[in-house]
Amino acid sequence: MGHSFRAVLALAAGLAFAALPASGLPARDYVLHEARSPTATGQFNGPRHWKRGNRVDPDAIVPLRIGLTQNNLHLGYEKLMDVAHPSSDRFGKHLSEEDVHDLFAPSDETITEVHSWLVSMGINETDIRQYSNKGWLAVDLPVSKVEDMFLTQYHEHEREGVLRIGCDEYHVPRHLSGHIDYIVPGVKLSAPMVKRSITKRNAVTNHRQNWAPKKVTPEQAGLLEWRPPTFNPLIPFDVQDCARNFTAACYRALYDIPLINIPVPGHEPAVYESGDTYSQDDIDAYFNKYAPYIAKGTHPKLFSIDGADAPVPSNSTENTGESDIDITIIQTLVWPQSMVLYQVDDRLYTTANNLGGFLNTFLDALDGSYCNSTAFGITGDSPGVDPTYPDTRPGGYNKPEMCGTYKPANVISFSYGESELDTPKNYLLRQCNEFLKLGLQGITILVSSGDYGVGLGPASEFTCLNGAGQFQTIYNPGNPVACPYLTAVGATQLERGTTVLDAEGAMQTPLGPGSELFASSGGFANYFPVPDYQKSAVQKYFDQHDPKHPFYIANDNVTNIGENGGIYNRAGRGIPDISANGANFRSFTNGIDAHWFGTSLSAPLWASVITLINQQRAVVRKGPVGFINPVLYANTDALTDITKGSNPNCGSSGFTAVKGWDPVTGLGTPKYPDLLKVWLELP
Ligand SMILES: *[C@@H]1O[C@H](CO)[C@@H](O)[C@H](O)[C@H]1NC(C)=O
Ligand SMILES: *[C@@H]1O[C@H](CO)[C@@H](O)[C@H](O)[C@H]1NC(C)=O
Ligand SMILES: *[C@@H]1O[C@H](CO)[C@@H](O)[C@H](O)[C@H]1NC(C)=O
Ligand SMILES: *[C@@H]1O[C@H](CO)[C@@H](O)[C@H](O)[C@H]1NC(C)=O
Ligand SMILES: *[C@@H]1O[C@H](CO)[C@@H](O)[C@H](O)[C@H]1NC(C)=O
Repeated sequence: MGHSFRAVLALAAGLAFAALPASGLPARDYVLHEARSPTATGQFNGPRHWKRGNRVDPDAIVPLRIGLTQNNLHLGYEKLMDVAHPSSDRFGKHLSEEDVHDLFAPSDETITEVHSWLVSMGINETDIRQYSNKGWLAVDLPVSKVEDMFLTQYHEHEREGVLRIGCDEYHVPRHLSGHIDYIVPGVKLSAPMVKRSITKRNAVTNHRQNWAPKKVTPEQAGLLEWRPPTFNPLIPFDVQDCARNFTAACYRALYDIPLINIPVPGHEPAVYESGDTYSQDDIDAYFNKYAPYIAKGTHPKLFSIDGADAPVPSNSTENTGESDIDITIIQTLVWPQSMVLYQVDDRLYTTANNLGGFLNTFLDALDGSYCNSTAFGITGDSPGVDPTYPDTRPGGYNKPEMCGTYKPANVISFSYGESELDTPKNYLLRQCNEFLKLGLQGITILVSSGDYGVGLGPASEFTCLNGAGQFQTIYNPGNPVACPYLTAVGATQLERGTTVLDAEGAMQTPLGPGSELFASSGGFANYFPVPDYQKSAVQKYFDQHDPKHPFYIANDNVTNIGENGGIYNRAGRGIPDISANGANFRSFTNGIDAHWFGTSLSAPLWASVITLINQQRAVVRKGPVGFINPVLYANTDALTDITKGSNPNCGSSGFTAVKGWDPVTGLGTPKYPDLLKVWLELP
């Protein structure tokens, strides 16, 4: 039974409750508010990993959090276009953090309506707490009371010794359905609660998949029988062999990125890392061999979030390649500018595979208005999915969660992701809106699209989606790339035997057992419809290059995935937006100079390009470019269209790179001088 919860939650039990009215009040006009999508159960971290157990003890106290509907959300897109669309008079006139905060705070009406309903349900006003961003009402209540208020039933869920509680669906009074965003615990499970009797904790996998740039031996990459091109006098010596040995110098040569640039204070670009951690010896080894003009010991400025640390010794199990690569690419290309590292979450969270969401603790640290902490040890805007601080476990970050601690860098690169369907739609809508807010403030966010074509990760029962009678045949787009308010970056490659003077194709290279389908990820989101800025590009793709696969149109609650034999959502946001080389990159990890592949390499390249452009704009007293997608879709000539390659998986051929935008390489790779010109001409 629910004994374990009572033990853990006893902290909250000292609260006084007013006498609670009996259930079955007259005129309970309720509507279904949220139901767990049956299709969300086939994912890496989806509820399918959680074994459902007993009903929760009716007397256990749960920390109920009611997420209030934010104001003006429907205007967010318009507001973003107002500052990010090249045809807007207000292009570049980004908002301050305070302006953004005020724009989206829930209306007084929303707060009052939900608050008075709680009081009418017999809850003592003094027990109801409101978060300072006004986004949540919080109260600790017995399970039986919450079940009665939301016409629901809570069950225990267990995975690897971690317990959480949640329900399959819940209802809200009809008059509040527009005011309540979602509740926790709800179809999202509660925060983890440790069941003392179980100590098993063996999985040491990262719940946030870094898109794992893949290290391969020359045999695996098929490089042994692959001879370098004959010497070409038109090509500088250090970039003769970029198809086999890609370096930062190759990026410069391919995309015309200047070697010399003037660093402008305040324009240090940032990388997000979590779990994986760089080693100073390894990045030094890269600089020494491939960028000797960079001083030994050069390293990013560490902004540690919630107890993360960096660097680690090169032989550490945390040093798996991602950070070394992300840092060397950016540092080499923006030198002598320095850079910033957001290392996120304490080691207990980054090594235990026990949470379903990610990025919220990071976003909290950059934007206090997105964040919150409660008095009862449950912390964060989305308790239950995200890490909770203080983390009182031995070795945990035993301090309150960081909220608004760091001013966000102007350009942030992410090479991490998971399945879009790992978390409920409302969770991602809320998080995506936070990316929109960062865009409103002039911040550019670049995210790798993933590495296994239209699937997600090496072959397993979670690579592709199930639904409507289909098993592992439906394409599986990633998160956060599904969000249309950031820039999704796919990968390209120089084909065997070609040089930097030749056209690239989509990255598509079989890399040995389990990675036969290693290829740039792309496709169409299920939660997010195609945004206006992308509509004509996507429509043109369907008109001129229809992939001819059966499709479905995802409904609002995403319950019809796979309908009529469809394998992708024809109405979804297209992924990726752009791309850049992600093949045969040379990088050191644990002292070994290997060849690396993945879209993980492509986001840092674009982060460097945008940083250099922001600095050039700063020199002429213009602000940072902010959310770049509307400018890119309106200036496709400033990119090199990639028209070779494809991204098969899930038992079918995936999509093909074609002329114009496509769901493999997006609009293509950067032409640095042309992009610079576009952005220098904009206000
Ligand atoms: C509400 O709680 C406060 C503080 O615990 C207490 O003083 C008050 O009597 C309570 N009111 C009701 C109606 O129970
Ligand atoms: C979060 O809410 C608590 C009250 O519940 C408040 O004390 C705290 O200041 C809030 N923090 C932020 C960053 O909004
Ligand atoms: C390029 O890669 C090939 C294949 O691994 C290797 O034999 C060669 O030495 C590399 N060239 C350099 C300059 O590292
Ligand atoms: C890493 O290297 C250090 C120093 O060379 C050594 O003491 C330590 O045992 C090594 N750790 C691992 C995990 O190999
Ligand atoms: C999901 O949406 C469809 C139409 O968009 C509707 O018919 C269906 O009842 C909804 N299901 C749930 C569980 O909300």
